[in-house]
Amino acid sequence: MQFKFSNATKHPYEIILVDDKNLKPLNKLISKKELDYVVKSKSNEQTIITLNRLDSLKLVVLVKQKKSKSDTDEAIRKLGASVQSILNSHKAKQAFIQSTCAANGVSYLFAEGLSLANYQFLNYKSDAKKLTHSLTTLLFSKNSFTATELNQLDILYKAISKARDLVNEPLQTLTATALADAFKSMGKEAGFKVTVLNKEQITNEKMGGILAVNRGSILPPTFSIMEYKPKNAHNKQPIVLVGKGIVYDTGGLSLKPTPASMDRMKSDMSGSAVVSATIYAASLLQLPLHIIALVPATENRPGENAYVPGDVITMYSGKTVEVLNTDAEGRLVLADALHWAKRYEPALVVDFATLTGAAAAAIGDVGIVCMGNADENTKLALKTAGANQYERLVEFPMWDEYGDMIKSDIADLKNIGGPYGGAITAGKFLEHFVDYPWMHFDIAGVSLNMSKKGYHPVGGTAYGVRMLLDFLMHYTIQK
Ligand code: BES
Ligand code: MN
Ligand code: ZN
Repeated sequence: MQFKFSNATKHPYEIILVDDKNLKPLNKLISKKELDYVVKSKSNEQTIITLNRLDSLKLVVLVKQKKSKSDTDEAIRKLGASVQSILNSHKAKQAFIQSTCAANGVSYLFAEGLSLANYQFLNYKSDAKKLTHSLTTLLFSKNSFTATELNQLDILYKAISKARDLVNEPLQTLTATALADAFKSMGKEAGFKVTVLNKEQITNEKMGGILAVNRGSILPPTFSIMEYKPKNAHNKQPIVLVGKGIVYDTGGLSLKPTPASMDRMKSDMSGSAVVSATIYAASLLQLPLHIIALVPATENRPGENAYVPGDVITMYSGKTVEVLNTDAEGRLVLADALHWAKRYEPALVVDFATLTGAAAAAIGDVGIVCMGNADENTKLALKTAGANQYERLVEFPMWDEYGDMIKSDIADLKNIGGPYGGAITAGKFLEHFVDYPWMHFDIAGVSLNMSKKGYHPVGGTAYGVRMLLDFLMHYTIQK
C-alpha cells in the first residue's frame, strides 16, 4: 500500500468522512439530491453511503462518537476496514480520503484501518496475481493531512506487514536461522545494527534454556541482538525489547495433543515479530531513543536427543530449573534473553511472548495480559498506549503465592506451576531472571486470527506493535 498527497480536483474513488451529528460540510461536496439521499440512508442506520455518479464513486462515511475516545477511534479504524472491501469489490486502484470531521486525526485512523485490512499474504498462492487486492494507493489532500502523518502511516503499514509476514511464514521456510536473516535485512533497510549469535556462540555463552529447548531439533538456534542507537537519543540507559522466537512449538516430548492444538504453532515467534517490527519502525521514524531488541529463537521439537520431563537444566543466569513439561519452553528461552539484558543496565525491559494458553483462556482474543515490576507511571503510560491503539492491556497480579507454585524440590525452580493461574506462574518464572524495571506481555490470545476480524485479516495480526510504538513515541524519561 502506498500513501500519497493529491491535489487533483476529481478522483474516481473518493471517501468523505463526516461527523454524523453535523452533515453541513457535505453541502460543498455533494449535490442537494445526494445530501437528501445521505440523510435518508442515515435514518436507516447506514454508516457507509455509496453515491454512484457513474464516472466516479463517492463514499460518505458517517463517524459516530462512542463512549470513549478509544472506542470512537477503533470504530473509525473498523469503518476503514469496511471501506477496504467495498473499494476492492469495485476494483478500485486508488482512493482519495478527506475528512470534514471536527476532530483531528480522523483521516489517519480511517486510513490505518483501511490499509491494515488491505494486507494480504499470498506467498503460497499459485494464482496470487488474480487474488491480489486491486487497491494499492491511498491519496490525501494537503490541507487535511500532514506530511508527518503520511510518513508515520507509511512506516507503520510497512512494519505491521513485516511482522505479519514473519508470523504467516511456516516453519519450513522460517527456521531460527531464517528468522535471524530476516532481522538482518530489516536492519539493513531501516538502519539498525543486527548481530546474530550462532549455536557455537550460544553454547560458549552457556545459554542453557535456549540449548535445552533446541536439543530435540536438528536445526541450530539463533540469538539475535538488534540495536538502534541514534546520536540524539534522550535516554542514557536503553529500552530493551525481548521477543519469544519459538519458530514452531510441537510441545517437545510433552507433545501437544492433536487435533488442532498445533495448528497455530508456527505463530509461536509472534513476540519476536512484534519487537523486530517495532525497532524497525522506530528506526525508520528516527525516534530519539536508544532501543535494543533481543530474540532467542529455535523450534521446540521432540527429536531424538530432546530434553525430557525430569531434566534439570542450568540456565544462562546460573539458576537451575527442573523441567516438568517440555511444552513450557517459552519461559526457558526468554529467561536467557532476560538475563542477557542485564548487561545494558536498561531503563526498562519489555518482553512479548505467546507464552500461555492460560492468558488466552482468561481474557480471550481482545487484549494482552501484562504484569511486571515497572513503576506505576510506566504502567500507566503503557496502558494509555494500549487504549490509544485499542491493543488493550490487563494487568495481572504477581503475588508471592504464585511464586510458591513454581518451587522445585530438587532445583531452584520448576518450569510449570499448578493447574490454575498459568499466565501468572509463567510471569513469576521470568521474574527470577530480571533485576531491572520490567513488564511482560502475554500475546497468546491475540497474535493469530483464524478468521478475519475488523482490520486484521486471517493469520498474523502483529498485535502489540502499535501499542509499543505508541508508548515509545510518548516515552519521556522519568526522574
Ligand atoms: N506456545 C504455547 C502457548 C500458546 C498456546 C500460544 C496457545 C498460543 C496459543 C506455550 O509454549 C505453551 O505451550 N504453554 C503451555 C504451558 C504449560 C505447559 C504450563 C500452555 O499454555 O499450555
Ligand atoms: Mn509450548
Ligand atoms: Zn510455545
